[in-house]
Amino acid sequence: MDRTEEKGTVSEPLGKAGDPCVMVIFGASGDLTKRKLIPALYNLASERLLSREFAVVGFSRSAMSHEEFREKISEEMKEFATSSLDPDLWNSFVQRLYYLPGDIQDPNAYQRLQALLLELDKNHDTRGNYLYYLATAPDLFSHIIQQIGEAGLACEENGCWRRVIIEKPFGRDIESARSLNREIRKVLSESQIYRIDHYLGKETVQNIMVFRLANGIFEPIWNRRYIDHVQITVAEDIGVGERGDYYDKAGALRDMVPNHIFQLLTFTAMEPPISFDADSVRDEQVKILRAIQSISPEEVLRYTVRGQYGEGAVKGQRVPAYRAEPSVPSGSFTETFVALKLYIDNWRWANVPFYLRTGKRLSCRVTEIAIQFKQAPFVLFRKTTVKHLKPNILVLHIQPDEGISLNFGAKIPGPLVRLGTVDMKFKYEDYFGRTPSTGHERLLYDCMLGDATLFQRADMVEAGWSVVSTIQDVWKALPHRKFPNYTAGTWGPQEADDLMAKDGREWRKCNG
Ligand code: BG6
Repeated sequence: MDRTEEKGTVSEPLGKAGDPCVMVIFGASGDLTKRKLIPALYNLASERLLSREFAVVGFSRSAMSHEEFREKISEEMKEFATSSLDPDLWNSFVQRLYYLPGDIQDPNAYQRLQALLLELDKNHDTRGNYLYYLATAPDLFSHIIQQIGEAGLACEENGCWRRVIIEKPFGRDIESARSLNREIRKVLSESQIYRIDHYLGKETVQNIMVFRLANGIFEPIWNRRYIDHVQITVAEDIGVGERGDYYDKAGALRDMVPNHIFQLLTFTAMEPPISFDADSVRDEQVKILRAIQSISPEEVLRYTVRGQYGEGAVKGQRVPAYRAEPSVPSGSFTETFVALKLYIDNWRWANVPFYLRTGKRLSCRVTEIAIQFKQAPFVLFRKTTVKHLKPNILVLHIQPDEGISLNFGAKIPGPLVRLGTVDMKFKYEDYFGRTPSTGHERLLYDCMLGDATLFQRADMVEAGWSVVSTIQDVWKALPHRKFPNYTAGTWGPQEADDLMAKDGREWRKCNG
């Protein structure tokens, strides 16, 4: 089969470079900077999508000079770069990295930041455009923004822009998300705020919209008349690793559902937007979140399942129980698995269940959206040896095997009418090769160009939390579950299968 017409252009510059700017990373000594942000900026530079008028300021507590910061980053890139470094490009890139040691709580540090930014504007012609990336603990977000404001560094005047990327988690429930939104809106306008969800940086997630809307054949059947139900799975085989402290306060529901899983859900379910501009797309996403049928406390009991892993084996390796992970209290009742059934109360999706599940230490790593179509009538097969027909399933494979597959029934060759199930498969890699990426490139680039389509708006975050809050409240009011209730390396607790079985359905057996 032919690849797309665009294929030959993949290594050409794909568009105009981002605006000139200085990117300030708060929390620059953390993991995100070395694993994602610097490799992503380098990839943009190598695609010529980063302006030549660009600089980075790493802001963090540890004392370091610019030169030491550059050396540290150069060393880290040996491990985290997603492609081999071009020495000339790297040399010019690294000269644009600066470092400012300081305490995020100290107003004087922001005065020093202001002085450094003015200097960089002069030396790199960055025109007063500043992109602040908040890669710190979430309880510092509002404080940093307030300080940026007080130092006069948030104010967009004389044609320059000031934008802030805020990492997840954005709040821990509906109340805290609302209050964080209120706090930061005292300093910034909504158009300056970029709430990041790294799932939107994944090619396959961005492709959901293209798949649905750039192809004439799917949209007419993308509704309750043809679709029986939808399953969204975000399964991880890893445990909580070193993040026990954060995770134990969050749990699987907060960590994954209102953000990553709701992004997958809204792209799958939303109406076609009137254009691809940020607000048109986000208007449609938020309509879906608001249309999620509210769940009564009694339905929380029937429609939700939570679990926590006990010790077990993943890929042949013994692994400890959640309660034995570092920084996790030995009597923790935090869930590491959640499964939910939701309905979207609108014309397109009335009565179509959406089943969502996510968990740690499951059998394998796989993220996918499976659309199961309604069964064809059996009538013609009654007099054959065929016992039953299988439904068609369209699967959007998000990771790790990125692609799309459609499974359908086919006649097994031979004199009898016998049916087999076959798969039509498309794999990204086969068509487009591998693009070195951390998943942050597109998001940083969009922010430099002022395109917020792939970032969450305040109303989306709040709508997401309001769905989850009812569940949180009911869970909190109930006596503790008997945890652990699933063995590491399996597909979660038995109740998750029962949730499906009650509806006469079953979870797909996913293979990572
Ligand atoms: C993060 C969660 O946002 O997403 C983690 O906090 C999770 O708990 C991670 O492991 C999953 O991301 P990915 O890209 O590996 O699917």
